[in-house]
Amino acid sequence: MNSEIIDRANRVFTPAFHFYHPISIAGGQGCRITDLEGKSYLDCASGLGTLNIGHNHPRVMAAVARQLTSFCHTGGVYYNETTVAAAELLTSITPPGLNRLFFSNSGAEAVEGALKLARYVTGRQGIISFAGAFHGRTLGAISLTSSNARYRERYSPLLPSVYHAPYPHCLRCPFGCSFAGCNLDCLGYLEEMLRRYISPEEVAAIIIEPVLGEGGYVPAPTKYLKGLRRLCDEHGILLIFDEVQSGMGRCGDWFAAQVYGITPDILTVAKGIASGFPLSAVVSRSDLMDQWPSWAHGTTFGGNPVSCAAAIATIEAIQDDGLLARCRELGAAALGRLMAFQEQHPLVGDVRGLGLMIGVELVGSDGKPDGAACAQVLEECLQQGLIVINCGAERNVIRLIPPLTISDEEMGQALDILEQTIETAGK
Ligand SMILES: Cc1ncc(COP(=O)(O)O)c(C=O)c1O
Repeated sequence: MNSEIIDRANRVFTPAFHFYHPISIAGGQGCRITDLEGKSYLDCASGLGTLNIGHNHPRVMAAVARQLTSFCHTGGVYYNETTVAAAELLTSITPPGLNRLFFSNSGAEAVEGALKLARYVTGRQGIISFAGAFHGRTLGAISLTSSNARYRERYSPLLPSVYHAPYPHCLRCPFGCSFAGCNLDCLGYLEEMLRRYISPEEVAAIIIEPVLGEGGYVPAPTKYLKGLRRLCDEHGILLIFDEVQSGMGRCGDWFAAQVYGITPDILTVAKGIASGFPLSAVVSRSDLMDQWPSWAHGTTFGGNPVSCAAAIATIEAIQDDGLLARCRELGAAALGRLMAFQEQHPLVGDVRGLGLMIGVELVGSDGKPDGAACAQVLEECLQQGLIVINCGAERNVIRLIPPLTISDEEMGQALDILEQTIETAGK
């Protein structure tokens, strides 16, 4: 029974170990999971945007089983072929010039690594991140995070010399502009920050999620990211793209950076990299990575050979099965359908996304975020066999992040359930 596991979990876990839905999984295959009571669900949360090729992909399971027959850990004491091959393969799909990496285990760890690399090689201290950003839960990462104050509450003092710029969120433009009349005031404000708060010569890096994740699923406008690239080049500031959530095919190319045609200096990768096995990476150019000497950073579990075997199989499956094109095609169709639905339903304030990283923002009659309606939709979806989760400071944005392997029929089913529950919640 689901409830028995949940009762046991509640006795043994701290409440800080949060779960979105009160069900316990018995098995998963592709886009479907079954709970302990035998009920089947379509999983459009993909284990928090991680199972980009679904649960238990046969190629991944076979690669992991093969690796387990020889060894499963090296701890950085000696080299091994699988980890080297995973690094070679990963750097063959990252944006041009980003061909050296450091493996770790989680998104937050990759972000910490990126910060350390940027500070180390520039000799500068300042970091600029964005309002609404989510970069993880470690102390360095939460210093950059501002998608919700509760992630930071009672943890001060956080990392010093961190500044937050406004994210280019056109729907809720902090400067009151519309997309058509946009003069990039948000970029102008960032330039103003470099005049007022911290000199550019003191800034090591600007870190941005090209598609804001936890903060509300907002793709940044291309012209903003281009402006950011120019600003960084002008001042010798390193540009970090945190693609922990938007990477590994999720946005219709390997990384959102390639969709935008903008190459950062440092890239963080995690989540979808190894189909659920813990692995992450900080990827950068040789000229920067070569300045990061032995002992300046380290790990025991990073680059675990079992996770790396899963990563190789994941990348090869995405390549061989044409899943990047499939993601673009499915994402465009879903976005079009949801935008048409929005026209008829005032509860839907905005539909946006890139590839299969789609956000449906629910608002009240006053246009303000409606987190309560969103909670209702999530719960009703679960009842009807669809797993979706939410995001945004007011938890009012539904994230639609199915595996890229989802079939047309399954996608249609997911959208039918989602639209129907929104319709009911709007009455
Ligand atoms: C953009 C981004 N960065 C970093 C993280 C942190 O990743 P992890 O939970 O694996 O530490 C997340 C997690 O959601 C994320 O979305």
